[in-house]
Amino acid sequence: MKKTFYITTPIYYPSGKFHIGSAYTTCLCDTLTRYKKEMGFDTHFLTGTDEHGLKIQEAAKALGKTPLEHVDYIAGLAKELWKGLAIENDDFIRTTEQRHEVVVENIFDRLLKQDDIYLGEYSGNYCMYCEAYFTQTQLIDGHLCPDCGRETNIVKEETYFLRLSKYANRLLEFIDKYPEFITPETRKNEVVQFVKSGLQDLSVSRTAFDWGIKVKSDPKHVIYVWIDALSNYITALGYDSKDDSLYQKYWVNGDEVVHVVGKDILRFHAVYWPIMLMALNIPIKFRLFAHGWYMMKDGKMSKSKGNVIYPEQLTEKYGLDPFRYYIVKELPFGNDGMFTPEDYVTRTNTDLVNDLGNLVSRSISMVNKYFNGSVSNKMTEHPYKEFALDLETISKKVFVDYKFFMDEFKVSNALFEVSRLIARTNKIIDETSPWDLAKDPSLRDTLEMVMYHLLESIRLATILYIPVLIETPNKIFEELNVEKKYQTFESFDFGKKSNYVVTNQPIHLFPRLDYDTEVEAIKNMMNPTQKHKEVIEKPEIGIDVFEQVNILVGKVISAKAHPNAKKLLVFEINTGDRVRQIVSGIAEFYKPEEVLGKKLLVIANLKPVKLRGELSEGMILCGETEDHKLYIIEADKNLEPGDNVR
Ligand code: ME8
Repeated sequence: MKKTFYITTPIYYPSGKFHIGSAYTTCLCDTLTRYKKEMGFDTHFLTGTDEHGLKIQEAAKALGKTPLEHVDYIAGLAKELWKGLAIENDDFIRTTEQRHEVVVENIFDRLLKQDDIYLGEYSGNYCMYCEAYFTQTQLIDGHLCPDCGRETNIVKEETYFLRLSKYANRLLEFIDKYPEFITPETRKNEVVQFVKSGLQDLSVSRTAFDWGIKVKSDPKHVIYVWIDALSNYITALGYDSKDDSLYQKYWVNGDEVVHVVGKDILRFHAVYWPIMLMALNIPIKFRLFAHGWYMMKDGKMSKSKGNVIYPEQLTEKYGLDPFRYYIVKELPFGNDGMFTPEDYVTRTNTDLVNDLGNLVSRSISMVNKYFNGSVSNKMTEHPYKEFALDLETISKKVFVDYKFFMDEFKVSNALFEVSRLIARTNKIIDETSPWDLAKDPSLRDTLEMVMYHLLESIRLATILYIPVLIETPNKIFEELNVEKKYQTFESFDFGKKSNYVVTNQPIHLFPRLDYDTEVEAIKNMMNPTQKHKEVIEKPEIGIDVFEQVNILVGKVISAKAHPNAKKLLVFEINTGDRVRQIVSGIAEFYKPEEVLGKKLLVIANLKPVKLRGELSEGMILCGETEDHKLYIIEADKNLEPGDNVR
C-alpha cells in the first residue's frame, strides 16, 4: 500500500484579493505534493478560506456587501487564482460551509461539557486585525499590537476560555519528544520560550459581533475565529461526520501530515492547535513548517504603501512557469526574502532562458547537425570519457541531495541542486567543444557520447523540475521524444533511456526579457499610481482665502491679435455685469476666430494691468499640459455670463 501524505496551507482570510504572499505558501505546498506523488505517495492537498470574524464583517461592510456576498466573491477569485497557477488541491474548504460549521459547533460543545472550556470575563487590549487579545506587557508602547503594530482597543466582555494552562506541560513534553514537530529549529525555540513563559487561558468566544459560528448552548457568543479556523484541517477530512474515511486514512492512520504556514501564525499552530487536539483526544499527527515572508524593499507588502503585486499580473505577462519557479526558489528556507522586479527578471533570464532554455536548444541543434537528430548511448576510451562519467556521478548526487532537501521542505535548496546539474551539463559543452570533435571523423563516437550525455542529462534535470514547472517539462520531453515511462522519478538514472530521436525544430522555451524594460514594467504593476505625474504643491489655504477670488462665467464677444505682442490675444468678454477687455497669453494655441462665442471662466477681481499697452481687466482660466500647452477651461452649456464659480 502507498504511504499517505496530507498537506495543508493556511486557510486565507478572504478580506481582499490574494497577493504573492498567499501564492508563495500555496505554490510551495503544490510543489511538495507533486514531489510526493512522484515519490509514490498517496497525497491529499487542502487549502481554503477562513471566512468568519470581525475583520471579514468589516471588510464586507466597507464594500456595502453582506459578509456572505463578500466571501463568496473572494472565495471564487481564490479558486480561479489557484487554477491559474495550476494548483492541484484535492479540496477547498470554506469555513462557512455546513460540513465545517456543524463540526466546529460540536467541538466547542464537547470541550465545554468536559470543562476544557469555561465561562468567564475578559478585559484586555484587543487587536481587531489579528482577532486577538494581548496583555499589557505584550503591547508595543503600551497600546500597539505586537503582531501587526496596529492600534488595539480595550474590550471588556463575558467570554468562554480554553484551558491552555492545563496542557502547557504536556505540550512541552510533546515538543521535546518529537524534535521534528516544528521546523525550522529557531521557530521551535520561539514556541518553547513562549510556552515556558506561562500560558494563560485563551478567550475563545466573542459577543461584540455576530459573523461567526454560534456557541450552541449560548448563541449570543460566536466562536473565536481561530478555534473555528484551525479545526478546518480535520473538518475537511470529515472528522466527526457520517463519512470520516478521509480522516481515518490521512490523519489517524496517515503516514505524514504537514501544515505549512507563515511565521506570523506560528503560535496558533504550534500552541493552540495541538492543545485543542490533546483536549479532543485526537492524535497530533502533523509536522509544522513555518516559513518566512516575502518582503518588499520598503518593508511588508501593503496596499497603502503601493507595493503589492498580484500573481496574475506576473503570470499574464511572463507565463506560469517563470512565476512558479521564482516564487518557490527565491525565498530561502525558513527566512524572509525580498521580492524585487530586478531579481524576477534576472532569475528568469539566468536560470530559465540562459541555463535551461539555451542548453536544450543548443543540444537539439547539435544533435541535428552532427547526427541527423538521432543518437544512442556511447562510451569511448577518449579522455573526454572523464567528463561524461563525471556528469553521471553528479546526477546521482544531485538526485540524493534534491530528495533530502525536498523532504525537509527546502524546495529552494532542492532547486539549486537541479541548477547544479544543468550548470555541469552546460560545462561539458565547453570542455569538449563538439564543433571541434565534429571535424575529425575518427572521433565520431566520442562526439556521440557527448551528445547522448547532454540529452540524457537534460531528461534527468527535467524530471526534477516536474514538481515546480508545469508547461516546460512536457515541451522538453516532446522535443526530445521521451516516452512517458522515462519521464518519472523512477526512471531517474543515467542510461535508462538508451537512445534519442529529437525534433528538428527546437523551440525557444523562454523568451529573453529585456532587463530595463521589464524591471520598469514590474515596478508599474506594483504601483500603478506611480505613473501619475507630480503635481505642483502650494501651501494650504482656508476656504476664506479661496472665496476672495471672484470667478465668473464669461462669453467671448470679440478676439483679436495683440498689436505689439505675438503671444497675446485681446478679448472682449461679457461677464454678466459688463463687457471687459482681457489680454491672455494663448495666441500660440488658439486663433482669434477659434475662441469667438466660447463660454469660459474669468477671474474678475484681479487688479487691472496694462500688458504691452493694452488694459487687461481679469484673467481667463486655462489648463496646462505636461508639455506646456494651454487649453481654455470651458464652462458648461447651462451656465450663463455672470454665473458665479465656487
Ligand atoms: O492568517 N510572504 O490568513 P491570512 C509569505 N486566516 N507568505 C505570506 C505573506 C508574505 N508576504 N503574506 C501572507 C490567516 N503569507 C488565517 C490563517 S489557518 C487555520 C488560518 C501567507 O490570509 C503565509 O502563509 O492572513 C501566512 O501565514 C498566510 O499567508 C496568512 O494568511
